[in-house]
Parts: sequence; C-alpha cells; structure tokens
Amino acid sequence: MSVTDLIPVRMNEGTLEILDQTLLPLEEKFIKIESVEALYDAIKKLKVRGAPAIGVAAGYGVYIAAKDAVSRSARESSAGSASDSIFEIMAEIERDADYLISARPTAVNLKWAVDRVMAALRDAVSRNAVIRNTVIRDAVSRSEKATGDPIDADLPEIALAEAEAIRKEDFDACMGMAEYGLSLLEPGMGLLTHCNAGVLATAGYGTALAPIHLGQERGYDFKVFSDETRPLLQGARLTSWELAKNGVDVTLICDNMASIVMKSGKVDAVLVGCDRMAANGDGANKIGTSAVAILAKEYGIPFYMFVPTSTIDLETETGADIVIEERDPDEIAAMWYEERMAPEGVKTYNPAFDVTDAKYITAVVTEKGIVYPPFKDGLARIKNETEN
Ligand code: MRU
Repeated sequence: MSVTDLIPVRMNEGTLEILDQTLLPLEEKFIKIESVEALYDAIKKLKVRGAPAIGVAAGYGVYIAAKDAVSRSARESSAGSASDSIFEIMAEIERDADYLISARPTAVNLKWAVDRVMAALRDAVSRNAVIRNTVIRDAVSRSEKATGDPIDADLPEIALAEAEAIRKEDFDACMGMAEYGLSLLEPGMGLLTHCNAGVLATAGYGTALAPIHLGQERGYDFKVFSDETRPLLQGARLTSWELAKNGVDVTLICDNMASIVMKSGKVDAVLVGCDRMAANGDGANKIGTSAVAILAKEYGIPFYMFVPTSTIDLETETGADIVIEERDPDEIAAMWYEERMAPEGVKTYNPAFDVTDAKYITAVVTEKGIVYPPFKDGLARIKNETEN
C-alpha cells in the first residue's frame, strides 16, 4: 500500500469524490459530490476535514458552482429566456462561493482556496475575453499564464484548472514539510500528535504526519503516541488508522494521558497541524492542542507546528482575532454512546479549536522552510515569497 492511496479528495471522470471520514475506520467509502449544497454539508459534517483537504475540496466546489451557473443559464436561454450576462453568471457563482466559505469559520484554507479560484475567474472575466455571454476565449489560467499559451476555456474549465493547481501545490507542500520536519528528528524518537494532520487532512503526505510517513519510508522507526482527540476522535479513528496502515508504530492514548506519557520520557517531540496561523505566530488547531503545548513546555519537549503557507493568515494579527467554531452539543453529550450519557438539559460548551500562543511553539515548519521565534517577520517573508 502507498500512503497516497488514502488521499481523501479526488476528481474521477469530472466528478468530485471524497473519502467519507465520518465512516472511518469501519468503512472506506468515497462519495460523489455533485452539488454545492452536498459539498457544504460534507464540510460542515466533517466528511471531508483538515484545513488543506477542506481547501482543496472547496476549490473544486467553485468549479461545481461555475458548471451549475453556466448550464442553468444555457438551459434557460434555450428555453427562450433572455440570456444572462457574464456578470449575472458571476454573481451566482459568488453567492455559492460565499455559501461554501460559511461552512466552517476557523480553517483559513477554506476561504483561501475559494478566494483563489474566484480570483482566477474574475481575472478571466476582466480581461474582456467574453464571447456569447458565457464562453470565454483566450482566457488564461494562472498556470498557463506563465507559458503564455492561450487556451480556449469556459468558466468551469478555468475554475477546474485553478482547483487542480491548488491540489497539486498542496501535494508538493506536504513533501516540503515532510523533508523539513524530518530534519528536526532522529531515528527511533518518540513523537506525540493531536487530532489528524495526515494524508486524510491534505492532498498529500499530510502536514504534521508527513515527516512520520517519510521517516517510515527511510527506516526511522518512530514511536508515535496519538491523542484520541475528543470529542470527534480524529486521533483514535483517523490518525491511529492512517499510521497503522502505513506500518508506523502507533499507540493510542486518551487526551488526558498526554502528561504521564511526556513525564515518563517517552516523547522527544510534539508534532501538530494548524488551521489558521495569525501573523504573530499564534496558531489555531484542534481543541486540546494548546494544553499539549503547555505541557510540552513544562517538560522541555520541543513543540513543532506544521503550517503550509496556505494556512498562514497575515490579515489576522493575533490568535485573539481568530473565530473559533462552536459545534453541536450532542458531539460531547451523546455522540459515540449507545444512549445519551449526559443529563438532559445540562449546559455544554463545544469549541472545535483552540489557539496555541506563539510562546509555546518551538518552531513553525512550512513547505518553504522552518521559522523560529519571534515569528512575525519570518512568517511574513515566507508567505509573501510564496505569493509573488
Ligand atoms: O475539525 P477538523 O478535523 O477539520 O480539525 C483538523 C485539525 O485541527 C488539523 O490538525 C488541522 O486542520 C491541520 S490538518 C493538516
């Protein structure tokens, strides 16, 4: 088995398919996503999850939106209605794009990817290369711009090309983080991770789990502790499954066991992912991450946050400005139990993420290099380098 067999977002003969992660590890099932509403639902319910994978799926979501808007307009005009202008069609795609972004607020990759595909569409439209209202000729997707080859393409094709570019770049970013991450580690180390920042969360080897998969290929023989990650159990259901499938030595622990495992000297480094990193290096990640970071500092264990440049959000100054998603109370009061276990009516609080303050982060590993504190200048340089 290759670890890339687990990549959870793919296009199959023009149809978006995602591995339904709510069914794992009991069932490995790809489901077809044929509408913007179905994708919104899949993102909201964590059928597709993990910041980069959500971004990749949402990029394809704009393609679905463009396809739907163009075919609706064509249908209506062949039925005798007045043709829509390209701007009316774009307005429809913009509405779908905003709807997709609203599915989950914390992971910045969702907005980043949708904005990027929308920018490619707006760019094509603003080049005034519109023929017959809907078909754009001589529009050039970003990747083709570099070669200067003109292409005949319509809005869906432009969106698809940009979404494909995002997917491919994410694969490469994972490989970059795998190499940089591995440079911080020694064979035989004990590692601890929280949530799932692996293949299942990306379009490649993962972020925090990428050096573990690469190390496995290179005989590093890591011993990994996977926090179960209450309440949705990404560590128990996904990380331990993904690592075991790749032959990695993985031990599942409850979240509240991290301290004893660290204190007993079994952990040489903590590796976690990130959903949004603010300009000052504060990083939002799955709920419980900040507690792990504070423990790591107490025990003198390096805490590495793996952050592709697509997850760095320079427009958000500090972690205090990051919107934290709150989810359904049933996830903590009833889900996973045969019968509801919490008393009816008890108050609950279910934040899906927390912010690890920059002061607890030893280093930020990106695909372009490793950033050490103070993070502000290094993050800005690496992000701007990527975008120019
Ligand atoms: O709620 P989820 O499962 O989407 O949360 C995922 C995480 O918190 C991951 O650690 C994060 O997205 C980084 S994934 C490479």
